[in-house]
Amino acid sequence: MIAFLDHLGKPLGSLSARVATFACLALFVAWLGASAAHATGRFEGVATCAGSTCHGRAEGNGKVVRQDELRRWQEPSSPSGAHSRAFAVLSGQRAQQIAATLGLGAAASASACLGCHATNTPVGLRGDRYQAGDGVGCETCHGASTGWLASHYTVLGTHAANVSQGLVPLENPAVRAAVCLDCHYGSDKPGQFVTHRMMAAGHPRISFELDLFSSLQQHHDEDADYAARKGRTDSLRLWAVGQAEAVQRSLSLFSRPAFSSQGLFPEFTFYDCHSCHRQIFDVAQRHLTFETNPGRPIPFAAPPFNDENMIMLSAVARVLAPGQAASFDSAARNFHGAMGIGRPQTLAAAARLSAAASGLSRALAGGSYSGDSAFTVIAAISGRAISPRFTDYTGSAQAVMAVDTLLNALVRQGRITVGAAAGIRANINRAYASVKDPNGYDPGTFRSALGEAARSIEVLR
Ligand code: HEC
Ligand code: HEC
Ligand code: HEC
Ligand code: HEC
Repeated sequence: MIAFLDHLGKPLGSLSARVATFACLALFVAWLGASAAHATGRFEGVATCAGSTCHGRAEGNGKVVRQDELRRWQEPSSPSGAHSRAFAVLSGQRAQQIAATLGLGAAASASACLGCHATNTPVGLRGDRYQAGDGVGCETCHGASTGWLASHYTVLGTHAANVSQGLVPLENPAVRAAVCLDCHYGSDKPGQFVTHRMMAAGHPRISFELDLFSSLQQHHDEDADYAARKGRTDSLRLWAVGQAEAVQRSLSLFSRPAFSSQGLFPEFTFYDCHSCHRQIFDVAQRHLTFETNPGRPIPFAAPPFNDENMIMLSAVARVLAPGQAASFDSAARNFHGAMGIGRPQTLAAAARLSAAASGLSRALAGGSYSGDSAFTVIAAISGRAISPRFTDYTGSAQAVMAVDTLLNALVRQGRITVGAAAGIRANINRAYASVKDPNGYDPGTFRSALGEAARSIEVLR
């Protein structure tokens, strides 16, 4: 279920926090002066928490809290350090491939990625030490620290007082769930949603369970002191509340128009993946089971309309109704493209495409064809303009039937002898074999079999 083993052996994330060793006391004094100006919580950056007398100790021997939280957050080879690596992974090959496929530019500066792979905050709320390179820093979960930074290490300070200054009460299961789900499911805040397209482009699936993931990233001790301040963690309750919050989160996003659809289609992220995909290869090395199709300008990983007859009609129009071929092709492309926009646009484009097909139907019905026409249509089907459009089983099966039909027509017209047709039967059969098993279909194998069949017919012209 969980991919955390994947993280083993990853290089360290941004270590800007590591070098910061200024003392808490100095910070405290500086803070007293500054805090009035920072009444609305700003994100002060991991370095602000990382002083050696704060949370940056080498050993977890602090009196109240361990004080080596930074070290655990940066743990290079375990899930507990995943958040400090979250920004660095955006410069890796997998992230770059995702961003390039979706036209997002560099992943490390794409807002669609930074919402979850860095501390997600508007520029105006960034303090001097804020760095995107910190990844998911302390304040991402514990809250922007301007308000509570000074008070939270005073002897007389209370948890309740800190919370009133903006510290997030993460010991509360529903509050914690809401924080984690922003990234471990999604939210309506900027850049916090993993679309189906991102997953198709190579993003791992998001899998989450509140209690388990809490222990995987735990950087505190639940000792008597903690229990006295915040109460003991009840795992059953944490788990159960996590489930309830996840149900609500998915439904609230699903109900928003901005998330629920992708052009004509629903956003597939919300659906059970394996109802459409019997196999998914959720590995670092992306494994696409489809090819993009030059005749269909649809969004990446959107379902293509079954265009088997459009492809054939496009081929035949080139040869037998050349005056209408280009407008039919452009109507077909517009129809596919409209599916990325919405239903009204798709219906309008469908009406135009239907009118173009109807014009072709009339023109083709009225024509009379010379003996060479069938040869030319076969050549068009397997030619450079049409052949790249054979990326799917149905269109390809249609093409083999067309070639066989047209070959028989040539025999009936006496253009080809029965013996000559029998002589190239093996090539036609190879084309049939390449569409025999829909589950074994491979576009490349099909296109070369089709090409050979067509060339052997051309030789008989
Ligand atoms: C701002 C976004 C964000 C928030 C909030 C967040 N996480 Fe994460 N978390 C991530 C990202 C991104 C990764 C993956 C980083 C990587 O692979 O390097 C991750 C990874 C993890 C991992 C490691 C998983 C693995 O498979 O190795 C655990 C465990 C985890 N988070 C737990 C939590 C918990 C518990 C919370 C809430 C208390 C939480 N996270 C809040 C973004 C977030
Ligand atoms: C809704 C939050 C969210 C968004 C938006 C998001 N990610 Fe992630 N990403 C995660 C989480 C959570 C994980 C860890 C998944 C796990 O292992 O459970 C992750 C893991 C990854 C990984 C694998 C990391 C590893 O350690 O192998 C890569 C690469 C990645 N994301 C890149 C991207 C890119 C590129 C974008 C933008 C196109 C993006 N992410 C957008 C939350 C998000
Ligand atoms: C992914 C979310 C997340 C991140 C990032 C994170 N923490 Fe935590 N932290 C928690 C949770 C959840 C707890 C346990 C609940 C609680 O007591 O607040 C916790 C507990 C703690 C505690 C113990 C609190 C107590 O009352 O004993 C300290 C101290 C702490 N974190 C400091 C840090 C520091 C410093 C960083 C950055 C280096 C950091 N945390 C990063 C989620 C996070
Ligand atoms: C309603 C159907 C549907 C659902 C549900 C669905 N997908 Fe897809 N997915 C598609 C289509 C369509 C494509 C584009 C590939 C194609 O044309 O066959 C695709 C492509 C992909 C790819 C690219 C690799 C490949 O197989 O070619 C991945 C990975 C993927 N989806 C993952 C997921 C995940 C993860 C989920 C669940 C969160 C999911 N899908 C849910 C229809 C679906």
